[in-house]
Amino acid sequence: MNKMKLKVTVSAPGKLELFGEHALVYGQPGIVTTVDQRLFVTIQTLEDKSLVYIKSSNPKVDLRVSIKDLSNKNIPKEAKFVSLAADNFFKKYYPNFKGGLKITTKSQFSSKLGFGSSSAVTTATIQALAKLFEKDLSLKQIFDLAYKTILDIQKKGSGVDVAASTYGGILYFVIGGKVIKPLKTTHLPLIIGYSGIKADTPTLLNQVAQKMKKYPKLIKNIFNSSGDLVNLASKSILNKDLETLGELMNINQGYLVSLGVSSQKLDNMINAAKNAGAYGAKLSGAGVGDCMIALAPPSKVKSVKKAVKKAGGKIIDVETNVEGVRIE
Ligand code: MEV
Repeated sequence: MNKMKLKVTVSAPGKLELFGEHALVYGQPGIVTTVDQRLFVTIQTLEDKSLVYIKSSNPKVDLRVSIKDLSNKNIPKEAKFVSLAADNFFKKYYPNFKGGLKITTKSQFSSKLGFGSSSAVTTATIQALAKLFEKDLSLKQIFDLAYKTILDIQKKGSGVDVAASTYGGILYFVIGGKVIKPLKTTHLPLIIGYSGIKADTPTLLNQVAQKMKKYPKLIKNIFNSSGDLVNLASKSILNKDLETLGELMNINQGYLVSLGVSSQKLDNMINAAKNAGAYGAKLSGAGVGDCMIALAPPSKVKSVKKAVKKAGGKIIDVETNVEGVRIE
């Protein structure tokens, strides 16, 4: 066996989609930002050579599993991303590894927010294992293995959240990592309202797929327009033109409403933000639940936050545009 470190901690950031949701899955570009709430994975070697021990307090996980059972379909869903990330890592790089390891995860954000805890934990697990084995992986190698892990479990998805947790920053992204382009800018002053509802991404992806089947031409036109909008938004981000970005958010929200992925609660929060003076607002992510985002002139930020709260949202204060996966 190669030389190994005894203990490594790696963290990866959460994310929020800014533009292009759903069209992303059909090959159109999207834009995502990282946020300054991170998920930590600590891996240490264990005396017991046969075992991988996966532990987390929120969600509660306390699992002892043998190396050969890491990809077992009975692994509880809370531990699946860590377990399958480890399995994919060993199969690709160290097929003869017998164990043992203790993997502990800890997060600064709830998995309910839609901040991409699954991709953050997957990315961080892969980088932590690489560092433990003193193996240098490029960001693209981490992305590819983490994306494979997500697809193994969820079957569908563009990988935009995996790119965010791996590369960090604000990214212009095309499915599978065909394009991963950092948009070099400063912090984006987003106002974020949590709806209190958990988005069910696989169900929403299926609903949109059904719409695509029923109205192929109409939905394709929406996706093409979404791609055009993302290209304009990427320029506005680089120019820090918040007013145009707000307008583009409103147009993007119109597309998402047409796809049927908004909800009364999100609509109320978004309208409240706009009525209180935001340049624009939209849902972020797969839809129906999770968070909405808004941009507002500095003089209106306070009243927009108040209005979103009054509409039933919980304000989440974060910085955007932060570092990707990193060793702690
Ligand atoms: C959800 O995080 C964003 C979607 O576009 C799905 C994806 O890109 O994988 C709805």
